[in-house]
Amino acid sequence: MPKTSLIHADDPLLIFGGAYSNLEATQAMLAEAARRGVAPANIICTGDVVAYCADAQATLDLVMQSGVRVVMGNCEESLAVSADDCGCGFEAGTACDLLSATWYAYAAKQVRDDQRAWMGALPRRLDIEIGGSRLAVIHGGVEQIAGYVFASTNAAEKSRQIALTGADGVIGGHCGLPFTQIIDGRLWHNAGAIGMPANEGAPRVWFSMVTPEGGGIRVSHHALDYDHATAASKMRAAGLPMGYADALSSGLWPSLDVLPQTERRATGAPLDLPDIFWPAP
Ligand SMILES: [Fe+2]
Repeated sequence: MPKTSLIHADDPLLIFGGAYSNLEATQAMLAEAARRGVAPANIICTGDVVAYCADAQATLDLVMQSGVRVVMGNCEESLAVSADDCGCGFEAGTACDLLSATWYAYAAKQVRDDQRAWMGALPRRLDIEIGGSRLAVIHGGVEQIAGYVFASTNAAEKSRQIALTGADGVIGGHCGLPFTQIIDGRLWHNAGAIGMPANEGAPRVWFSMVTPEGGGIRVSHHALDYDHATAASKMRAAGLPMGYADALSSGLWPSLDVLPQTERRATGAPLDLPDIFWPAP
């Protein structure tokens, strides 16, 4: 069992993932948190602060200075040790592999030594006590930091991973698509990513609120609008892959390589993410 930090939360938590070097989205996220009156200690980032977009160094600085809690993503894990790639495990020669090589090299040049040290010191797991439950916050999968867990990932596999944590539920990130499911009375929640749209054909991005409420918690997904045109123009000026720059405005991913069939078929369909109340087990 990995070493964990335990947080007790009486107030609503704001969860976001995948800032992906998107400075404009990260600024908008922190402004939205302030507008909602959420203190930095009650904001949790599920990792991948750095990835596809143009401002690796500035986005890291903003997150580091903000005081929000961050779980290590595979991008932090790789950049902290100057690894050769982002650690997503894309198959050689696939579109994701070719696109990631470009942004990773660009980000690796921007990142300072103090930022590498900060990324390397991030926890791989945070535990939260909230609304009578204990939730384990991880990046991708419980066993693998870059493991993909989607809404369509089978329930038995999610149950198996939740059981491994010893907690009542999991908050994860990495796959970039928001969803919330209750499986055999346990929770799997992914807030989505703020640095890249959710392949739904709209430039908006997603975060979530986890709110204690009468013997349980309410999980609500929220869309965030931000200055995607500026973020995309900086990517084009930096010579980053056009596919990801275009995706910020089109809301459609440049490659569907990592998506299961269910999520591929949903390409371009607006997300409908109702609130879910989860009673404490
Ligand atoms: Fe990731």
